[in-house]
Amino acid sequence: MEFTVAIDGPAAAGKGTISKAVAAHFGFAHLDTGLLYRAVGAKVLDGVEPIEAARNLTPSDLESEALRTSDIAQAASKVAVISEVRAALVAFQRTFAQQDTGAVLDGRDIGTVICPDAAVKLYVTASPECRAERRYLELSAKGHDVTRDGVLADVKARDARDSGRAEAPMRPAEDAILIDTSDMTIEEAVARAIEAIEAVRA
Ligand code: DC
Repeated sequence: MEFTVAIDGPAAAGKGTISKAVAAHFGFAHLDTGLLYRAVGAKVLDGVEPIEAARNLTPSDLESEALRTSDIAQAASKVAVISEVRAALVAFQRTFAQQDTGAVLDGRDIGTVICPDAAVKLYVTASPECRAERRYLELSAKGHDVTRDGVLADVKARDARDSGRAEAPMRPAEDAILIDTSDMTIEEAVARAIEAIEAVRA
């Protein structure tokens, strides 16, 4: 039976980790929709025109670990303001959401635009400082050359662009459950998400 969980929120709030854990717990398929925008951003950095890049995306474009860099995150946030880019990615996301296994999609506009009828909508957030610290630790552990101030500036710039754009801005759906992970462990945040989903499935 179709059962969609929409998980939105800003960068590094924990929605990726929560989404993976929820998908594993319930046996749902999982789509990190940020990867679609990152793959388009990566192509743009290689000189491809953004709308053309979005229209010709293939599943293998989503597989590269290189999509995780800060430069590609910023490029993704920039291409994400273009309405034709967003339009080119809608069908793939909606088809993914309709799988019989159930699906969890995480992003910025899943509960508001892509799956407004999702069975459960979560909005996962945390303070910019807390998110920047997590992202800093994650990137430096992977050997990326980053500073705390640089990561915080990137997080704030991305928040401003993602929530300030005209098309599908990042915001909680009216019926979304808010989870602020600033003072939570990841285990607590995952448990909170599972509880919210179980309340609807029961
Ligand atoms: O979730 P992420 O950090 O990988 O996303 C990268 C960028 O892609 C994000 O800054 C904005 C854009 N994005 C979007 O506009 N809509 C989505 N559903 C997912 C990501």
